[in-house]
Amino acid sequence: MTEILHQFKGRPVVVGSGLAGLIAALTLAPEPTVIVTRGALGAETSSAWAQGGIAASLGADDNPGLHLADTLAAGDGLCDPGVAGGIIGEAQDAIALLQRYGVRFDQNPSGEFALGLEAAHSRRRIVHAGGDGSGAAIIRALIAAVAKRSSIAVLEGFEARRILTADGSVCGLLCSGPTGDIVLPSSRVLLATGGLGGLYEATTNPASNFGQGIALAARAGAVLADMEFVQFHPTALDSRRRPLALVSEAVRGEGAELVNERGERFMADTPGEELAPRDVVARAISAEIARGGRVFLDARRALGPRFGVRFPAIAALCHEAGIDPGSALIPVRPAVHYHMGGVATDEEGQSSVAGLWVAGEVASTGLHGANRLASNSLLEATVMGARAARNMSLFRSQPALGDIPSTPPIADSASIRTVVSRHLGVLRNAGAMHGAIASLLPLAEGDGASSDPAIVALLIAVFASLRTESRGAHARTDFPLKQLVARRRKMALDEALAIARAATSQDFARSA
Ligand code: SIN
Repeated sequence: MTEILHQFKGRPVVVGSGLAGLIAALTLAPEPTVIVTRGALGAETSSAWAQGGIAASLGADDNPGLHLADTLAAGDGLCDPGVAGGIIGEAQDAIALLQRYGVRFDQNPSGEFALGLEAAHSRRRIVHAGGDGSGAAIIRALIAAVAKRSSIAVLEGFEARRILTADGSVCGLLCSGPTGDIVLPSSRVLLATGGLGGLYEATTNPASNFGQGIALAARAGAVLADMEFVQFHPTALDSRRRPLALVSEAVRGEGAELVNERGERFMADTPGEELAPRDVVARAISAEIARGGRVFLDARRALGPRFGVRFPAIAALCHEAGIDPGSALIPVRPAVHYHMGGVATDEEGQSSVAGLWVAGEVASTGLHGANRLASNSLLEATVMGARAARNMSLFRSQPALGDIPSTPPIADSASIRTVVSRHLGVLRNAGAMHGAIASLLPLAEGDGASSDPAIVALLIAVFASLRTESRGAHARTDFPLKQLVARRRKMALDEALAIARAATSQDFARSA
């Protein structure tokens, strides 16, 4: 029996309680708003695990133009420069907004922001909190701010299962939770559900994040963009812990070096060395591991006994794995960390479906292109969460609910992780991607527990198979070069399914 929560009728609904979702709910206040969150508020979000911080050109030697140039260079020709310039231009305001909500960023002894350095940034511009605890500090402050606003109702333990539409517009959200299934009648839904690392065996994201927002939006008919671009962080701590713990790029920013098991500094001859763009470093480390080698971060000379002071959370994670990072080598390996693609949005966070807004990692605004510049994601989540909320507040209408579908089984991505990890990893080729499409299509078209995760993985595979070049985070062994013209790809689920069906029926025709 599905309960319709008439008491919340017409309120904007925010799905997710990471940075984008919390900022959106706070920006909507005092308009009565509902947050739907699968765990406790802020508990299952990658935002809270972010170590680095927020990129903002606040140093005396820096300006938004330099930040934009670094962003476009990392994005490898696929950023939307207008969108990127707009978001980067709001970085200072975003930091000030977070401070107003109580976030205390780290300062140097003269009272200025202590700015960190991360890969592919030409200047020190990472504003951080608690050393390497930036995400946790931000989420803590925003949760406290939400608790003070009586206009925000929080439904903890509820998971969004389907977006309800009537005549192509949003009219409600079907959720399941501890008290059973519920419907929130609303013509305004914001998805801020985070990333999709949970599709892979090796990830630094919460394992339960398989791209729920992408599946929800895709089923509602929304256009997706740049789905093939999955970012592998080069330096996850190579331990038994799952999900893998991150060893922030900021550690390399402080001078730590990458060495292999022979002690060779294999990045020494690459432009940018250890601080080359993330995709370049991830591929170099993968190559070392693929030849049977091992890779380590050596922070002994650069940080030594200071390691635990500058990076207390990472030091604790290393100690948990039996490593003293100030005096021993830290074993590292690449792991899925971020997804540049997602639900295509405009500059206000609106998707192609009327009444559906999307912000944070689940969105594809055009800021990141083929490869996200480090610490641009918390910036985007702050700016776009607030922009989407301001835009939502302009649209008010009373939803008219149509038929309510039955609730699908609880989604489970475990059964597809092997296929996704093997075929859609750091290095790709046509055979592997077609193998992924053939395995994923029947699951995506079915109605089992793996259907939603398989839809998301299938979208990655279809977009990846169509990009016959290597660009940013999408590296193909069969197409190692870039095409002359860089183009973002956008399509809806129906089109992707049709392409997948055609690809598999050709396989069938060939084998018959
Ligand atoms: C890091 O601290 O290395 C990660 C920062 C980011 O992913 O933006």
